This record gives sequence, structure tokens and C-alpha cells, in this order.
Amino acid sequence: MDEDFVRIGTGIPGLDDMVEGGLPFPSTMLLAGNTGSGKTTFCLQFLFEGAKRGEKGLYLTTLSEPTNWMLRFTSRFSFVDKDAIGKSIAYFDLGPYFKSKYPPEDRYETLKRVIEDKIVEHMPQRIVIDPITSMENILKDSYREFLFDLSQSLKNWQAVTLMTGESTPTHSYPMEPAYTADGIIILYHLEHSDGRRRYLEVLKMRGTDHMTGKHMVDISKDGLSVQVGFK
Ligand SMILES: Nc1ncnc2c1ncn2[C@@H]1O[C@H](COP(=O)(O)OP(=O)(O)OP(=O)(O)O)[C@@H](O)[C@H]1O
Ligand SMILES: [Mg+2]
Repeated sequence: MDEDFVRIGTGIPGLDDMVEGGLPFPSTMLLAGNTGSGKTTFCLQFLFEGAKRGEKGLYLTTLSEPTNWMLRFTSRFSFVDKDAIGKSIAYFDLGPYFKSKYPPEDRYETLKRVIEDKIVEHMPQRIVIDPITSMENILKDSYREFLFDLSQSLKNWQAVTLMTGESTPTHSYPMEPAYTADGIIILYHLEHSDGRRRYLEVLKMRGTDHMTGKHMVDISKDGLSVQVGFK
């Protein structure tokens, strides 16, 4: 193994074996999928895996979920350590900064400053922005530049960042965040004649000899797990 190339475990059983042991550190990853495909669950497993290893996590939501949401949402999963919430894993809602009291031309700088302030305050090794795609409506023409700027500064902070994004009927991942991401992981929830089945695909991972193709995924009280090789 290349000792200069640090990787961190995802906490998703099966996935690390697909990516030479873990996600490159530091890096920015795009986690794409349609609604209910498991993006938020994946992100939480990633953060709690870090907490178990003594790493700090920062969960930034853009959806204005109530602050106790994380507790409610996570309470049913076995990987959750409630003591970590609000301590080694910080939760912060970016939603209010999307409101109209901030003129559009100020939102870019405001969002960037707020994200950087939270990182400086918490110094996380693992960061989640769930979902990143809602920023497009807010930032309009400056969205692409913002994503580029953000991914550069996130890497300088020495962290692995997961940005989540919605798939559309025509694209399995959002185009703009894909340009700046070092890796793209796609979750599918596909309809078959006997019902829906879940899959995970590593579409790209810089510096990594990763497995390709769609591999079956299961979601249970233990979160997501990948059945590597089952297609
Ligand atoms: N304990 C469990 N056992 C089995 N399946 C579960 C369990 N908890 C959640 N799920 C399934 O996992 C799905 C994943 O939900 P999650 O919120 O992670 O998806 P998402 O991609 O973030 O969706 P959205 O785009 O709406 O935010 C749920 O819709 C549900 O079908
Ligand atoms: Mg979600």
C-alpha cells in the first residue's frame, strides 16, 4: 500500500473493499441517488464510523430540518452512538442563510463564510453537505464557481467531504457537482418485475483502482451494506 496515500473507512460494509480500503483523504465526494435511495443513511454511517475512530464529523444540512431531526432520524439505526451527537458529530442547518433576507449577490460569500466558520469551530475530518444540489436555486449563476471554490477550500481543511445530490430521470448524478468531485458514488433504487432493488456503483474515484458496475445494496437497522459481486 502507498503510505503517502491516506484512506479512511466509510463505515459501509463491503464498500471499502471496492475502493482499495477507503476514501482518499482529503477529498470531495459526490454521493448521488434518487429520493429514498439511502444518501442520508450513508452519510450518517460515514460520520458515526469516524466518531468510533476518534475523528470529528460535521453534518451540514440545507433543508432546514429541525435541530432534533438528527436524533429522531437516527434513533432506529444500530450504528448510532447518541453520545457522539452534538459532541464529536456537530449538526448545523444552513437553511436560514438561503432565505431572502440575504440578497442573492451576498449569499455566495455568506454561505462560504458560514461553512468555513463551522469548520474552524469544529475542525472535522469528515464533513457532509446534504443535499448540495439545493444550493443551485439559491446561487443561480454563481453555483458552479461556488462548488469549485468550496471543493478547493474543503480539501485544504484536510477532510473528506460527502456532498449529496439528486438523480434525475435523465441523469444518474447532478452534472455541476460532478465536475469538481474527486469521486462519484451512485445509489440506485431500481424497479424490477418483482419489486424495487437497491444498488451502488462507484463511477469514479481519483487515484483508486476501484471496482466498477452496480452491486446490490441492502438497508436494514444496521444501515447500508454492499453485497460486492452481486449484480
Ligand atoms: N431500519 C430500516 N430497515 C430497512 N430499510 C430502512 C430502514 N430505515 C430506513 N430504511 C429505508 O432506507 C431508505 C433510505 O432513506 P434515506 O433517507 O437515507 O434516503 P435519501 O436518499 O437520503 O432520501 P431523500 O432524497 O429523500 O433525502 C428509506 O426510504 C427506507 O426505505
Ligand atoms: Mg436524505
